[in-house]
Amino acid sequence: MPGQIAQEIIARYESRLARSRSLDAAAKNYLPGGDTRSTTYILPYPAYMARGEGCYLYDVDGNRYIDFLNNYTSLIHGHGNPAVLEAAETQMRRGTVFGAPAAAQYELAEIICERVPGIERVRFNNSGTEATMMAMRAARAYTGKDLIIKMDGGYHGHHDFAGVNVKPDFAATDLPAASITWDGIPACVLDGMRIAPFNDLAAAERVLQANQGQVAAIIVEPMMGAGGAIAPLPGYLEGLRALADKHGVLLIFDEIITFRLSLGGYQKISGVIPDLTCLGKIIGGGFPVGAFGGKQAVMARFDPAHPQTIYHGGTFCGHAVTMAAGAATLKLYGEPEIGRINALGERLAAGVNAAFAEAGLRGRASGAGSLVQVHWTDQVATNSRQALLAMGRAKDLPRLLHLELMNRGVFCATRGLFSVSTPMTEAEIDQAAEAVAGTLQLLKPHAAEVAPHLVI
Ligand SMILES: Cc1ncc(COP(=O)(O)O)c(C=O)c1O
Repeated sequence: MPGQIAQEIIARYESRLARSRSLDAAAKNYLPGGDTRSTTYILPYPAYMARGEGCYLYDVDGNRYIDFLNNYTSLIHGHGNPAVLEAAETQMRRGTVFGAPAAAQYELAEIICERVPGIERVRFNNSGTEATMMAMRAARAYTGKDLIIKMDGGYHGHHDFAGVNVKPDFAATDLPAASITWDGIPACVLDGMRIAPFNDLAAAERVLQANQGQVAAIIVEPMMGAGGAIAPLPGYLEGLRALADKHGVLLIFDEIITFRLSLGGYQKISGVIPDLTCLGKIIGGGFPVGAFGGKQAVMARFDPAHPQTIYHGGTFCGHAVTMAAGAATLKLYGEPEIGRINALGERLAAGVNAAFAEAGLRGRASGAGSLVQVHWTDQVATNSRQALLAMGRAKDLPRLLHLELMNRGVFCATRGLFSVSTPMTEAEIDQAAEAVAGTLQLLKPHAAEVAPHLVI
């Protein structure tokens, strides 16, 4: 019975996670939903993790998982890398944060500026959210224009201007309509935002033309991350660059996820250099971080000595421990490591594709290198709307895949994103692919019931 398969998966999950269940119930007395991040909320309740070691996580009930979540792609060396720990510990003993610049900040800034082609000058934040917020502000200040064009379904953190069309316009027959995704964001934010579908140059040009002389910047992930790990079509990024130049607007790449894919991020892979770049995740060595940087001409406005300086505060920006851990992390993440984990990611993607084929289900892996995303369609999604529509039509299959993978000792994002970290080897990749294969076989009768279009 298909309903029974779902029940059995959930029952197995609950029987393995009894202690997590009581911690979750207790936490709900003080934290709405039991935690602080919408993204960590799962039903029936999340596993409470007790510790991490290399690419493994251990929960409070003593279960072990291969960690493909890596705190949403931010732990490139997994947990407890000795050099990163040492750097953080040394800095902590000297002082955590000073209200004055620390040498470690210079060191991390130098590494980033040397590696990322589009970054001549950089500033640090405590989150990727702040990084995109400040990049948008920098673009507005530099151009003297107010409008920002973002992609339908694009995720750039949770500040107000990023909270537009995170949920794509599923009903769009032409250009997507702009709408606010999260309650509490004022409607006036829409006045400052325009929306274009990813991978559609003609649409981007129409939006630019319709708002001639008013646009400050286009913000885009060169490969969509949360929107579905969707790669740009050939020529798309080059086309956006050309459009930005033609219309005198800045091009902002949000490389908060994609930076990991090469020494200089996706811009180095594509050869398309943005005016501003946002970074986060891996550059903080496991501590809270964000960064935005770009051309000296734009970033110079953040110099307090500039006659038209842009204010940029933040009590913990440039936090010394983050900077030290981040510099240690990137020093250990050179071409050989990047090449190795990108190859592991490709091996995992091949394993996921084989698992769908063997189970006789329509689905595929998207993404690039060390980032692998399960799509619930055998068609190549070129924008977030297609990927999310396919996920919606798969009903509870994505959720059951996630829970059953946990039952089998594999921890990934609930939306089916896997990120590879440097402590992983082919053994962990093959174990994960095997777990996906076994889970899809198990789910096939359920799929036949709830989403028969997926059964081949
Ligand atoms: C592409 C992208 N931009 C921005 C952010 C926001 O970063 P943070 O969660 O550090 O605020 C994220 C986080 O997942 C992201 O994936």
